Amino acid sequence: MTRAAKVGAWILGLGLAIQLVPYRPQIDPPVLGEPAWNAPRTRELFYRACKNCHSHETEWPWYAAVAPSSWLLRYDVDHARRHFDVSAWGHKKNKHSDEAASAVRDDWMPPWYYRPLHPEGRLSDEERKELAAGLAATFGDAEAEGEARDSDHSDHEHPDQDSK
Ligand code: HEC
Repeated sequence: MTRAAKVGAWILGLGLAIQLVPYRPQIDPPVLGEPAWNAPRTRELFYRACKNCHSHETEWPWYAAVAPSSWLLRYDVDHARRHFDVSAWGHKKNKHSDEAASAVRDDWMPPWYYRPLHPEGRLSDEERKELAAGLAATFGDAEAEGEARDSDHSDHEHPDQDSK
């Protein structure tokens, strides 16, 4: 084998081997509940821009089946659902729901890395205002009520909240 062929064989072998790692998206859990949205429009915008990570109705893209992107998607959605999960409404504490309005208002959510591959997740200024107002009406608005400790989201750990 030439050197280039050897390197190619190694890369191919490695690419196949990582597919065996069992960390990948699982079958979505059932929808257990849903918040009482203030208006159908809020739900519509949320389901357009947020549900892939913050509900159990995720539409997994084809690359969710292929490592290493499958690892990143699994991690991201697990993490997102743990913080804020509309499909487990009434079944699980959703203590961050009152930060949804500011997350949208400050253009922190959906995350920047999500937008290039998901044009439907991009919100116009008008839609962002609409969704932020709808989320505030549905879940409350910690930032507006002055409860948010960090409005710039530079620290997402909130250890004081998580220990509740
Ligand atoms: C690509 C996946 C993805 C999408 C789409 C997404 N989020 Fe998130 N979201 C996350 C992740 C990951 C976290 C946890 C981030 C962290 O704490 O650093 C998170 C955290 C949150 C939190 C908790 C904030 C906190 O301080 O703990 C809220 C509220 C939220 N997102 C709202 C939204 C809303 C509203 C939308 C739609 C406009 C949205 N997200 C779209 C991935 C996503």
